Amino acid sequence: MLKSLLNWFLKRLPINEFIARHLTQYYLPKNLNFWYFFGALALFVLFLQVLTGLWLTMFYTPTPEAAFNSIETMMREVPYGWLLRYLHSTGASAFFIIIYCHIFRSLLYGSYQKPRELVWLLGMTLYVLLLIEAFMGYLLPWGQTSYWASQVSTSLLTSIPRIGQALTTWVRGNSMVSGEILHRFFALHIIGIPLLLIFLVRLHLSALHKVGSNNPDGICIPVKSQSHKKLLYTIPFHPFYTIKELFTLLIFLFIFSLVVFFFPEMYGYFLEANNFIPADPLFTPLHIKPLWYLAPFYGVLCVIPNQLFGILIMGSTIAILFILPWLDRSPVRSMRYRGYYSRFALVVFVLSFALLSYLSTTIITPIKAFLIQGLLLVYFLFFSLMPFYTKYEKNKPLPKSILCGK
Ligand code: HEM
Repeated sequence: MLKSLLNWFLKRLPINEFIARHLTQYYLPKNLNFWYFFGALALFVLFLQVLTGLWLTMFYTPTPEAAFNSIETMMREVPYGWLLRYLHSTGASAFFIIIYCHIFRSLLYGSYQKPRELVWLLGMTLYVLLLIEAFMGYLLPWGQTSYWASQVSTSLLTSIPRIGQALTTWVRGNSMVSGEILHRFFALHIIGIPLLLIFLVRLHLSALHKVGSNNPDGICIPVKSQSHKKLLYTIPFHPFYTIKELFTLLIFLFIFSLVVFFFPEMYGYFLEANNFIPADPLFTPLHIKPLWYLAPFYGVLCVIPNQLFGILIMGSTIAILFILPWLDRSPVRSMRYRGYYSRFALVVFVLSFALLSYLSTTIITPIKAFLIQGLLLVYFLFFSLMPFYTKYEKNKPLPKSILCGK
């Protein structure tokens, strides 16, 4: 009975074909390592965020009068409400840590190079959307930081010539941050952007499965043609990689639970103390500490004296990432075979971005502002010099045995 019911379904829905195409008959290089697990982890955290967000929405009230208290009630009176909230807030930070590791892997093994440019572009769009999603989510608790961070960041729009003032009022739905913006951020945070994210992740994976995964050696591995070589260098995603992914997921869940249960605020980096004070439009906090994943962009705005110029520079820090596949002229993908210039540039880039992010979470003194400006220069030099150092450096020879063209 059950079997015939299942057959009835399978004849009408292409589930088996889907499983074969994306799991059991999807071949991946055998040499994928630790760095390749972050994509699946990102997928897991995306669903965790959607699920916990759904539950939080059941108890949250999106009005200036009730938002703060509805969250406090959830934390103190709803059974396991605190757990749902901490899963969601820790999930947001975990998402960004995972995404930064995922992006770092792409830089390490040149995964953005031909033919995966579109995978990279869709990934970057996902990154921008995640930033917007996090920014909008942070207004919802309606605490002091929520309120003032939104007030300051939306007021930046006023510096746009001619339309600035009208644009700010349009975005806020009012002349100041109030119930209108809270309502629209709520709508976008819980439905608009998550739908876009899920749709774009689907496209990201379709684009990847069309060209196949890169690997730590960055060399082309014959997956589709030359079937005698196929099994020599590749294995199906399921069961070989799914079992490894499961193991990584358990390690991730262990660390994640430690944070959720013992350090949910993570010394003010995951949840900020000022945001446990209800929003007060008449009292500006002395120091608005941005969340760590929004900090680099906030830092850039703080250290550029001209507001409009600051917005342009901040936009450029992201825009330049989109054109990365066309800036890199190296004939090899992976850092394993690249020359010293590329390796040195990547190390300096990662360290300077980390330092820039850290400094931006602290109180910015004139010396720190100068340092952040210097780090910003390093950030742009990494990209603008890339066409030269990747083209002229001396690379190591690629292993010829399994090479099938770049
Ligand atoms: C919601 C966010 C994201 C999800 C769920 C996601 C998911 C995935 C998954 C499951 C894979 C295949 C497994 C793997 O290679 O790790 C992958 C590959 C890839 N992703 Fe993402 N991704 C996201 C964001 C990004 C971002 C922000 C970038 C960079 C801009 C990016 C760039 C790439 C690239 C280049 C690959 C191919 C890697 C290779 O074959 O070596 N992704 N992604």
